[in-house]
Amino acid sequence: MSQYQTVCEQLRQTPKIWLVTGVAGFIGSNLLETLLKLNQKVVGLDNFATGHQHNLDEVQNLVSAEQWANFKFYEGDIRNLEDCQKACTGVDYVLHQAALGSVPRSIADPITTNAANITGFLNILVAARDAKVASFTYAASSSTYGDHPALPKVEENIGNPLSPYAVTKYVNELYADVFARTYAFKAIGLRYFNVFGKRQDPNGAYAAVIPKWTAAMIASDDVFINGDGETSRDFCFIENTVQANILAATTQNEEAKNQVYNVAVGGRTTLNDLFNAIKTALNENGVTYTKEPIYRDFRAGDVRHSQASVGKIERLLGYKANYHIDEGIDFAMSWYVKSLT
Ligand SMILES: NC(=O)c1ccc[n+]([C@@H]2O[C@H](COP(=O)([O-])OP(=O)(O)OC[C@H]3O[C@@H](n4cnc5c(N)ncnc54)[C@H](O)[C@@H]3O)[C@@H](O)[C@H]2O)c1
Repeated sequence: MSQYQTVCEQLRQTPKIWLVTGVAGFIGSNLLETLLKLNQKVVGLDNFATGHQHNLDEVQNLVSAEQWANFKFYEGDIRNLEDCQKACTGVDYVLHQAALGSVPRSIADPITTNAANITGFLNILVAARDAKVASFTYAASSSTYGDHPALPKVEENIGNPLSPYAVTKYVNELYADVFARTYAFKAIGLRYFNVFGKRQDPNGAYAAVIPKWTAAMIASDDVFINGDGETSRDFCFIENTVQANILAATTQNEEAKNQVYNVAVGGRTTLNDLFNAIKTALNENGVTYTKEPIYRDFRAGDVRHSQASVGKIERLLGYKANYHIDEGIDFAMSWYVKSLT
């Protein structure tokens, strides 16, 4: 039995109370779904800045009425300390996902990104510390590697941030570390690498590449590739990310706390290969796309290559990426075809 299976079994036997911030978003709603299916009690906090009620509605349809009754939702803002305090009351484990994602958004409007990602982060950290929660796990980001050239990325070697968003995610790590030193409040940061899967938003100017291209292909619109298409990423299917959160939150290993971990697969896929993988998977789901991609300029703030070492999270948390990109793309495409056609 894997560490993850063992932990899930223990949670089923002894349910806990979880706070998922950003619960109406992509990753948050997937965490909610898994936790409710494990019969956990979940408190959710979201201000719908980029999240959607329809994500919560979809989860409701995927769980039983008894499981849904274990969910308590607060519409609130992490920029408001009182909202954070209310949400943290009585909680065992915090999974902090709420933030404004997207490098280009942060370049266009650094002040709003800063308020959610740094002030909001500090508020929830203080509220969680004061509520004496058993663990605090937060969404960090691979953008923290910035211009460091080494591949694969190992946690201790980071470069200079390349965007306001990357600064905010690095500041999260700095705050978490200082809280461990000054208040003995030990958080765990998960540096996500390009997560994808069902409920990732295909709409809006700041949509991530997989949902954006998928929606364009389904609508027979043009697909744009920024740069020459040889930019590469370690695309990580959502189920791996959910696993990492649950393992981090529940770890009893003291050495594993006050740490940051890469959450990825350890692979590297170019945008050109991604384009073909999505096209093929859509074809298998009855959607034929015949256009060639249109290449345009590289995007400001983007790193050229990204690939994680997952050795640390495997060793200290017992993580094992159960889904590689192709399997993840198959699951994701069948969901997008059902929801967008
Ligand atoms: N998706 C990825 O590939 C990726 C990669 C690295 C890091 N992350 C991080 O993972 C987390 C979740 O990202 P996601 O992809 O699910 O994005 P998402 O936009 O789908 O979810 C973020 C959620 O946070 C909520 N939110 C934003 N500001 C808020 C505020 N002030 N108060 C309360 N709620 C607020 C949004 O409404 C949304 O529901 C974020 O912290 C993001 O920075 C994501």
